[in-house]
Amino acid sequence: MWPLLALFLALLSPTVLSLELEVLNEWNLLDLNIPYDYGLINNFRPETNVFTGLEITNDRIFLSIPRLWSGVAATLTVIPRHTPPGSSPRLEAYPSWDFHKLGKGQNDSCDGLTSVYRMRQDSCNRLWVLDAGVNLSLEDFQRICPPKLVVFDLATDQVVRTVVFPRQVLRPNSLLANLIIDETAQGTCDSAFVYMADTAAPGMVVYDGARDTAWRIMHPTMFPDPDFSDYTIAGERFTLMDGVVGLAFSPKLSTVYFQPLATDRLFSIPASALRKGPPSQDEELPITLVGKKASQGLGLALDPKDDTIYFSPVRETSVAAWNPVTNQQKLIAYDQDKLQFAAELRWREQDNSVWLLSTRFQKFFRRTLNPQDVNLRIIRISTTPSLQTGLTNNLYF
Ligand SMILES: *[C@@H]1O[C@H](CO)[C@@H](O)[C@H](O)[C@H]1NC(C)=O
Ligand SMILES: *[C@@H]1O[C@H](CO)[C@@H](O)[C@H](O)[C@H]1NC(C)=O
Repeated sequence: MWPLLALFLALLSPTVLSLELEVLNEWNLLDLNIPYDYGLINNFRPETNVFTGLEITNDRIFLSIPRLWSGVAATLTVIPRHTPPGSSPRLEAYPSWDFHKLGKGQNDSCDGLTSVYRMRQDSCNRLWVLDAGVNLSLEDFQRICPPKLVVFDLATDQVVRTVVFPRQVLRPNSLLANLIIDETAQGTCDSAFVYMADTAAPGMVVYDGARDTAWRIMHPTMFPDPDFSDYTIAGERFTLMDGVVGLAFSPKLSTVYFQPLATDRLFSIPASALRKGPPSQDEELPITLVGKKASQGLGLALDPKDDTIYFSPVRETSVAAWNPVTNQQKLIAYDQDKLQFAAELRWREQDNSVWLLSTRFQKFFRRTLNPQDVNLRIIRISTTPSLQTGLTNNLYF
């Protein structure tokens, strides 16, 4: 049996733990610092640029903008880590504009980056960027390049490794949209395992960094549930049949948590089952239903100290914490305006905080954006009591 997450009750209860939402940056529409001689400067359409991926380092914040629709100039961008609270810095292409597909034959090799949903930093100060290789994924889904992992050394911003995935681990409509780097099994970050979510051809791709090989895993729990493919956020409804996309990893339990977008369920699989190689035809994968949520959600984060999972149920415009070991549940934040669609939740050990991207994705999707509204935010929720929060803030600002 699994616990039912009683989020609706929690919403009504006066004992909701409501932690402060700290808006680090916010934008009505994203603004990129596009060079004048860049081929597509006139094709940039800010109303199609919505970030979905977040990575935080000591001095920088990385934001990915997948090419969902036409009008995206750079798919991986960066801003300084320390900017005035609530400011709207201009995004810079990472590592440089040369890496971003210009289209129109200017650089039509697959050397650069096509469409990035998410990226992760490892313990060796490197950024693993997962490039889905698909243009216009929500319009006409053009496969332009094979999906790949591109690893940047953050000290030099140079590419140190590129992994292009073989056809065998992909399907025609594969869309690699999320990743986890697991350094626990084989020691160093060079021999890490990478677990990736294939959202459109539901499944997972496992990359074994030590042996430089990859394989594919599929299971019905990774597919979207048609009963949960409608999302209502702040009264606006949209439909998206997305499979597995939210991922979190517990080093202590050596467990990968995953959730399709179109579901109210959260599942887990032991990392050992992912690592042991391609499953045989009739092998049953040890997947567990961990629990049910009040509504769908995308981002998942995990605090490795006590294995608390953080997620954001879309209909409730909130962030919830749930510990599957103790079955403790808390609603840690609720805000009908600031919390909208959370395409990314990240746990950051250094400041004991959940970081998240909150966007009015439903309005980008339905083309009902109001450019006078704040439509995109980077939010931090400190989970430590106020005294400690103050100390942490002093350290980081
Ligand atoms: C395309 O851009 C990449 C990345 O900057 C570069 O290495 C490559 O030489 C370029 N290719 C062409 C054909 O210009
Ligand atoms: C992606 O699609 C847009 C819109 O059709 C197009 O202008 C652009 O050239 C495409 N990019 C590539 C790399 O083909």
